[in-house]
Amino acid sequence: MSVSALDIRVQKTENSRISELHPDNIHFGKQYSDHMLVARYEDGEWHQAEIVPFDNLSLSPATTFMHYGQAIFEGVKAYKDPQGNPIVFRPRDNWKRMNRSAVRMAMPEVPEELFIDGIARLIDIDRDWIPDQDGTSLYIRPFMIATDEFIGVRPAEKFLFIIITSPAGPYYSKPVSIYVQDEFVRAFPGGIGFTKAAGNYGMSMYPTQQIRKMGYDQILWTDGFEHKYVQEIGTMNVFFVIGDKVITPDLKQDVILEGVTRDSVITLLREKGIIVEERLISIEEIEVAAKAGQLKEAFGTGTAASIAPISTLTYHDDKMELPPVEQWEITNWLKEELANIRYGRKADTHGWIYKV
Ligand code: COI
Repeated sequence: MSVSALDIRVQKTENSRISELHPDNIHFGKQYSDHMLVARYEDGEWHQAEIVPFDNLSLSPATTFMHYGQAIFEGVKAYKDPQGNPIVFRPRDNWKRMNRSAVRMAMPEVPEELFIDGIARLIDIDRDWIPDQDGTSLYIRPFMIATDEFIGVRPAEKFLFIIITSPAGPYYSKPVSIYVQDEFVRAFPGGIGFTKAAGNYGMSMYPTQQIRKMGYDQILWTDGFEHKYVQEIGTMNVFFVIGDKVITPDLKQDVILEGVTRDSVITLLREKGIIVEERLISIEEIEVAAKAGQLKEAFGTGTAASIAPISTLTYHDDKMELPPVEQWEITNWLKEELANIRYGRKADTHGWIYKV
């Protein structure tokens, strides 16, 4: 990749905060690297992108996205390869997904160079912010907000595309306990379930708050018609190992996020000869499998969470305990395989690695 294909104005910070980055104290989403990229869309076109010191934004309180939620985002990760060079995992797939979200939310599509070269330039400048311990990465958060100063409801005409980056440790430090949600709904066909619209996460806060009070970590959403078929977890796609097959909800009705990690996992499993079924899967099927001792492993996938094992699945009074994670063959193999590819320790046979 050429890091100079896109004309980006660069203003570097004179007060780097890199000394605040401590390798043994890296959490998720708490620290931000020195710079950010900002590009403005106005009068029907994108204007020159700038990389500037990470700072607050100054916006009118009447800015549209604050009121009506015309806001979308992505999550991408950069790693250091064994030679210490920055590499980014599948950024083009995130770019494509961002534009699918943009179209549905009546926002302008982001040109490929702006998204990809923007990430590359930013990572190049802030390469020292990429941690290199196992399980760490530089989380890249591209996002777009509608910035018209107007309180009437109409699709905006002005937007900001911004990329910030954040050194990240594991999102979940232990297997997650899941509560199967059959009161609230995340997505219906025709809705925005397939997008990374801010509203998909905003609407999950109350149901998540409720289940946290009950001692669970995350929600597994079910369909809104019958609350019968599982969809995805609040922060991740979901996979179940039942017998010798791996089953994950399909993308057909546009109610589920098309996860980049989801796709990577399906690809790796199929290449290893493991059967992966993308289809409707009911909570009843999962319960029956659990009772028969056939629910062997279950995990979530996402850029932030990577591959996160599930410890328990609770549906009404039925608490399904998964076997100890150390015994899981498929998930543990996947975690290692994916980590080896992401950290550049294994040949990239899929074209997933983007060298900066
Ligand atoms: C990601 O996995 O990158 C996400 O955006 C999920 C978010 C809830 C942290």
